[in-house]
Parts: sequence; C-alpha cells; structure tokens
Amino acid sequence: MSSGTPHEKPARYYLSLLGGLEDVVAGELAQRVPEAEVVGRRPGRLFVEYGGGPKPLTDLRSIENVFAYVAQFDGLSCRRDGLQEVENHLGEVDLGPATQLRQQLHGPVAGPVFRVTGTRSGEHEYKSQEIAAAAGSAIQAAYGWDVDLKNFNFEVMVEVEDDHCLVGLRLTPEALHKRSRVVHGIASLNPTAAYAMCVLSGPEADEVVLDPMCGTGTILIERAALGPARLIGSDAFGEAMREVCMNLNATGVTAHLVQADARRLPFASAGIDKVLCNLPWGRRVLSYRTIRRLYKRFVPELERVLRPGGKAVLLTTQWGLMVSLVHRAPSLAITHDRIIRIGGMKPHLYILQKED
Ligand SMILES: C[S@@+](CC[C@H](N)C(=O)[O-])C[C@H]1O[C@@H](n2cnc3c(N)ncnc32)[C@H](O)[C@@H]1O
Repeated sequence: MSSGTPHEKPARYYLSLLGGLEDVVAGELAQRVPEAEVVGRRPGRLFVEYGGGPKPLTDLRSIENVFAYVAQFDGLSCRRDGLQEVENHLGEVDLGPATQLRQQLHGPVAGPVFRVTGTRSGEHEYKSQEIAAAAGSAIQAAYGWDVDLKNFNFEVMVEVEDDHCLVGLRLTPEALHKRSRVVHGIASLNPTAAYAMCVLSGPEADEVVLDPMCGTGTILIERAALGPARLIGSDAFGEAMREVCMNLNATGVTAHLVQADARRLPFASAGIDKVLCNLPWGRRVLSYRTIRRLYKRFVPELERVLRPGGKAVLLTTQWGLMVSLVHRAPSLAITHDRIIRIGGMKPHLYILQKED
C-alpha cells in the first residue's frame, strides 16, 4: 500500500522498465500504489498520474527509474534541423513542477546545476550528444542554470525515438535495479527481471523455491521480498557461493545454499514447488557447446526435482535448444513464453508446468 498522501492535483511521471514487462509493472503499481493511474504506455515506459508524491513510486521493485514527466512531442525531423526543433521545444517547456518533485524527494537545492542526457533510437542525422547540447543550451537560456556534466542536481532526459521526443527529469539518482546487492557479477541478472520471474511464478506462502544456478542470488532476494518461502540456492562454483552469501547477508534474506552442479542436483525427486532460474545464455559465461551440454542434462534434472503440478520459470536466449529439450521431457510443457529486453539482448522468459 502507498504511504503517500494523495494531493489534490496529481503529478505526471513516467517509469522506465524492461521492455516486455509492462503488465508486471502495471500489476505492481495497482497493488502497491492503487491511487496511481496509468495514463499511457510506450515500449519500456509507463506514464502515471499520482497525487501522493514520488516516494511510493521509487519503492516499486519492477521498475528501473522514476522520472517527472515534462513534455513530449511528435513530428521531430530526422535531419539536422531536428536539433533546432529540439532547442525550440525545450526553450518553451516548464521545468518548475518537475524540479519541485525532485526537491520533494531529495531536499532543496541551493543553486540549480543541471545536465541533459540525450538518447536516440531510429535513423537520425544527429547524435545523442547533439540532442543533449541543443536541449542544454535552450534550458540555460531560459532558466540561467549552470551546466556541469558530473556534479549536477537536475538531470533532464531528452529521449528521441524516431520522430517522437520525450522530456523528463530524473528523480531516482541511479537505476533502482542496482539495489539489493553488494556484489554484482558480469552475469548477474537485472533485479527487475528477477522480480518479474518471481511474480509470474505465482508465489504461494511457504512453498519450496530453488534457483539451481543462483550466481549472486538476485532471484532469491526478489522472491524473499514477495512473501515467505523456503528458499534454496545452488551453483556449481565456489565464487558464486561466496557472492550469494554476501548479498543475502546484506539484504537479510535467509536461504539454504549448496554448491552443486545443476546437471546432478543433490535434491530428492518431486520435492520442489518452483524452480526459478536464469541460465547461462551466451559467451559472457560459457561457450555455446558447454551451454548445450549443460541444458541437455539440466532439463531432465529440473523435471525430476519438481513436484507434480510444480512450475519452473526460466530465462534464456537459447530458445530453440530449450523448446526442443522441453518437448523431449514427457511431463513438462511450456505454458507461457514472452520476450523481454535486457541490455540489448532479447531473452525468452518461459513458464514450464509439470503435469499433476
Ligand atoms: C546467468 S548466471 C546466473 C546469474 C544470477 N541469476 C545472478 O543474478 O547472479 C548463470 C550461473 O550458472 C552457474 N553455472 C554454470 N554452470 C553451472 C552448472 N553446471 N551447475 C550449476 N551452476 C552453473 C554460473 O556459475 C552462473 O552463476
């Protein structure tokens, strides 16, 4: 439930999230900040009106960042004159309400110092840095604020996608997905994706949940935040065991940890309610040959340890391999398949059900 006090006039925000998880974010919002109203969507963005101040939005576990909405416009030229259009629009926007929300969250600032971050997707005859420079000079002329690219208290976001331009003010100082971890490895999962996996597994009180390739423990930590469960984490490597211990200690999460190979799990048959696992996908962790060998032996192990009616939620880019292996597992079926976007990759999130 929200702890904010609804004000008379709702402010508009946008939330950034991993593409493909819009429904998960809307679900968390409806549950935890029910007074907030979703007023629009774009890929990876949810627009929200809410009168209770920004704090409850920054507590959501399914999102990357919270921005105060400033403006958006369509019809931006993809040629060089698009930069002049950005400058013209930014010279007219009212940053006042957004800066008030920022100060409500982080306290007043003495002299406003700002920077603009420009992003761009699509075909344009200009670069993101040029978008930032055009917007920055318009804001400086309109408000007289100082620019500092490193030590700033206001960060204005100008996001150009094809001919669309969205302007906002960042409210969360760094991506919320960096929360909950003291150790972050190269293959660590984005916690917002881990949160989505846990939600989509349909958490039930006191169920037995296993992450058999737990790495730094992101999934275990997100599952713990969703209610009581008997958590088990295993991984083949001692380094992962040390890292998961540090992250669990830092977040106060209790789990049974075992160093074990996922191809030969040291667990009784049919004893696990849910398996939640972010498998190695690519060369960041293992070669394709090794991945293939691992998956071939892991899927039958997964089938063995799950109880009848149990579920697995798996994340992988190796969709062809996964689908063919699940087809060969007599009691498993894929009941859900969606693609999510994480750092330029498009892994599939599968839900597997073991027959009763
Ligand atoms: C993509 S990472 C998981 C990252 C984890 N979700 C996190 O947030 O840190 C895959 C993990 O599989 C583990 N792994 C690789 N081969 C394994 C095997 N045969 N048995 C168990 N774990 C294995 C790696 O050590 C790595 O931690």
